[in-house]
Amino acid sequence: KIFPVIMAGGNGSRLWPLSRGLYPKQFLRLEGQFTMLQETVRRLDGLACGAPLLICNEEHRFLVAEQLRAMDQLAGNIILEPAGRNTAPAIALAAMTALAQGEDALLLVLAADHVIRSPAAFVAAVQAARPHAEADQLVTFGIVATAPETGYGYIRRGDALAGQGYRVAEFVEKPDLATARHYLECGEYYWNSGMFLFKASRYLAELQSFRPDIYAACERALGNPSSDMDFVRVDKAAFLACPEDSIDYAVMEKTASAVVVPLDAGWSDVGSWSSLWEISPRSADGNVQQGDVMFHDSHNNYVYAESALVSLVGVEDLVVIQTKDATLVARRERVQEVKKIVERLKQQG
Ligand code: GDD
Ligand code: MG
Repeated sequence: KIFPVIMAGGNGSRLWPLSRGLYPKQFLRLEGQFTMLQETVRRLDGLACGAPLLICNEEHRFLVAEQLRAMDQLAGNIILEPAGRNTAPAIALAAMTALAQGEDALLLVLAADHVIRSPAAFVAAVQAARPHAEADQLVTFGIVATAPETGYGYIRRGDALAGQGYRVAEFVEKPDLATARHYLECGEYYWNSGMFLFKASRYLAELQSFRPDIYAACERALGNPSSDMDFVRVDKAAFLACPEDSIDYAVMEKTASAVVVPLDAGWSDVGSWSSLWEISPRSADGNVQQGDVMFHDSHNNYVYAESALVSLVGVEDLVVIQTKDATLVARRERVQEVKKIVERLKQQG
């Protein structure tokens, strides 16, 4: 049985000024009717699995509960972290919770802040991953690498397996630029999509062997949970004492039992405004617009207008984001540098 786990604990500063500490990107409606979190839940429709387990930061509990309720998802399956300790502990809490509910389910670990254009291709990849996960492998979903991005994990594929998938020959999380370029030229690499399928027990066994400190801290944190309304709260002191690490460094780089199943589903982790421009349907002039926007003789821009009319005249390749209390204007290819602004704002407090 598939047990979906949605990680929604990130704070997404790269989509500033729309995405903020109190309102990270997974809770935003970037296009259409649903937020990214809601789209993640909807994507499960084709899998005939149960309701997902959500895991997020305490301060976002009402946002999460409200967004689930708005789509008639019964809440009641939300684990709250007093502070983020990255994905290795978050997934451990989910795996321990799944096991405590009485069966060694296949955890389908998803990020709440990814866009997937073809839900059908996603469902097919999950089905293809299933036999590998049942055979005690840790499955990751690989995206054919197309640029030397340094924010991703890179997976070198090894031997082809029966069905769909390859043994993982090597997993390297967030390589430097020179290494990423080399991987790209070599052509045997996938990006790690950040989604996984494995038995709960299998993940915990690997974590226990590579990071017994994280395993033990999570076990303690769940030793004394309190639940109120829809939420499960872990023991605060125990979880705060947990070391911070991602599943990628803590487990995927080290395990000898990883399998990669290729995923060609129009995936994006929407790491920046320019990636959103790339994956969005564009007008004949190459513009993408959200909200009240007018263009004249302008090309290849991404414009988001939250609360006022925004108009562009005679400009190219810009990102313009208007919100009630902040406006961003940036060249599209330099939009990663908004993090400089975010850092300065943080310093100013
Ligand atoms: N509950 C919880 N708690 N969720 C978290 C936490 C946490 O402490 N930290 C991160 N998350 C959630 C984020 O909201 C996101 O949905 C997901 O876990 C992944 O975290 P990111 O912080 O976005 O990771 P990343 O983008 O740097 O790298 C991962 O994703 C890449 C693809 O987008 C890695 O898995 C890479 O290997 C991968 O290529
Ligand atoms: Mg990410």
